[in-house]
Amino acid sequence: MNFIITAGPTREYLDPVRFLSNPSTGKMGFAIARAAVRRGHRAVIIAGPVALKTPSRVKRIDVVSAREMFAAVKHSLSSEKGECVFVAAAAVADWRPMKCARRKLKKTQMSSVVKLVRNPDILKQVSGCMKVGFAAETDNMLAEAHRKCREKGLAFIVANDVTRHGCGFGTDTNCVCLVRPDGSCQMLKMMSKLSVATRIVREIESLYRTSQDTTLKRRRGRSEND
Ligand code: C5P
Repeated sequence: MNFIITAGPTREYLDPVRFLSNPSTGKMGFAIARAAVRRGHRAVIIAGPVALKTPSRVKRIDVVSAREMFAAVKHSLSSEKGECVFVAAAAVADWRPMKCARRKLKKTQMSSVVKLVRNPDILKQVSGCMKVGFAAETDNMLAEAHRKCREKGLAFIVANDVTRHGCGFGTDTNCVCLVRPDGSCQMLKMMSKLSVATRIVREIESLYRTSQDTTLKRRRGRSEND
């Protein structure tokens, strides 16, 4: 399969020297790319500004803002041939300044000049492929993850409680729960991000096999009725 993976934060500049962002390091998304190629898949990472080496055999596209990330995702999805899965591991900034000032803003101008507008929800808007998301939560983790899974039309969502030690932003380990659209979930013990990534890739493979079997059975049923 072709894995298209977003990773890291996005930066939303308000002037040439200041931006809105978050502490994502991209480790989880890069681990998914590594796990995917190890298991014989092709992987493209669309990365926000991160300080990570590109895993071998992985194609990398660097972007800065959410809108650039969205354009790169759409371009990659339209140019990849064969079955695609879109894994959104990036911590995309939900808002951006309406305008990026050409010159450094004065401290006193900030609150009157900076107006925020919503960024596109990349994961929600993409279609035509299997979609997997992440939900970094501090409260009501499972309920929030389930809501996002249904609202964004995902095969499953990887929920993590970022308040727990050793989970979430910047760590080498993660403790996640795979939440499905029917609300069922599978809690994994704390493990390295690469092990979590391998579990995610295997879950995608298994869902893909099931969907292939269902299509095959439907086709057979149809030709027997003809
Ligand atoms: O920010 P939120 O909790 O809604 O993120 C859930 C999922 O949606 C994540 O997989 C994230 O990468 C994706 N997302 C996105 N574009 C956004 C916001 C979130 O692709 N603007």
